[in-house]
Amino acid sequence: MSEHLLVEREQGLLTLRMHRPDKKNALTRAMYSGMAEVLVQADQDKSVRAVLISGGESCFTSGNDVADFIKAPPTGLNSEVFQFMQALFEFSKPVVAAVNGPAVGIGTTMLLHCDLVYVSRDATLKMPFVNLGLCPEYGSSLILPRLLGHARAAELLLLGQSFTGEQAATWGIANQALDSGAATLAKAREMALRFQQLAPAAVVDSKRLMRAPDREQLRRVIEEEGALFGQRLRSPEAIEALTAFMQRRTPDFSKFV
Ligand code: COA
Repeated sequence: MSEHLLVEREQGLLTLRMHRPDKKNALTRAMYSGMAEVLVQADQDKSVRAVLISGGESCFTSGNDVADFIKAPPTGLNSEVFQFMQALFEFSKPVVAAVNGPAVGIGTTMLLHCDLVYVSRDATLKMPFVNLGLCPEYGSSLILPRLLGHARAAELLLLGQSFTGEQAATWGIANQALDSGAATLAKAREMALRFQQLAPAAVVDSKRLMRAPDREQLRRVIEEEGALFGQRLRSPEAIEALTAFMQRRTPDFSKFV
């Protein structure tokens, strides 16, 4: 298990916390595979009623580790990131997210696969895929236009515009925006613990029914996006953008026609 993941149990609630504060909880390959492993085991463990994903009081996650994107870009369906996406997509029990501070890239797209999302008002959500020469991932190109309408989704996915926790709640990406990181964690925990009192099989059946209608289409889209994302990671545009991030400069896309 990665040293950057903290796993806690409280009654039937398993809390999975991303913990790499010096890199704003940027997700490494080891973190993805650790998260996938925890989810797969929690799904099989009958005593787990719900999972809570958080990054602590001040940062959810800055998304995929950019250095990893350069050094070891994910390759196909066996990659660690895909294993994590798969494990969350297939997870049969409720998943609750507590989002504070930055939630970048997969930090935002994973929320589309959680069941309840609590967010601090001033959290900053962002999917800067085009800004990095990449493309949408994890079903976001299907889910967001449906949820928000094409125009608003285009601001988020074609411009990579950031939005606040308050907006996420207004638009239906999150359940509720709260005043502080501590309040967000407390609310998410309170709601996740409610599953302890509910009939577990009824909850699982209900989640499956809610997710069923779009499931196969979404699965196909996630695979198509993943294949294109993998190609784009090796493109000159992405290499320029990722290198620029590491060098703390603005990428120069002027040379690309
Ligand atoms: N991958 C690798 N390192 C990252 C990272 C990431 N995704 N996000 C942040 N870091 C590192 C920074 O390089 C910096 O490292 P250093 O102290 O060794 O120089 C450290 O984490 C702190 O980041 P910093 O940018 O100084 O913090 P900030 O509070 O000013 O900004 C973010 C926080 C999250 C808004 C900003 O770091 C960011 O935009 N990160 C990149 C997000 C991204 O593009 N992710 C990929 C999405 S597909």
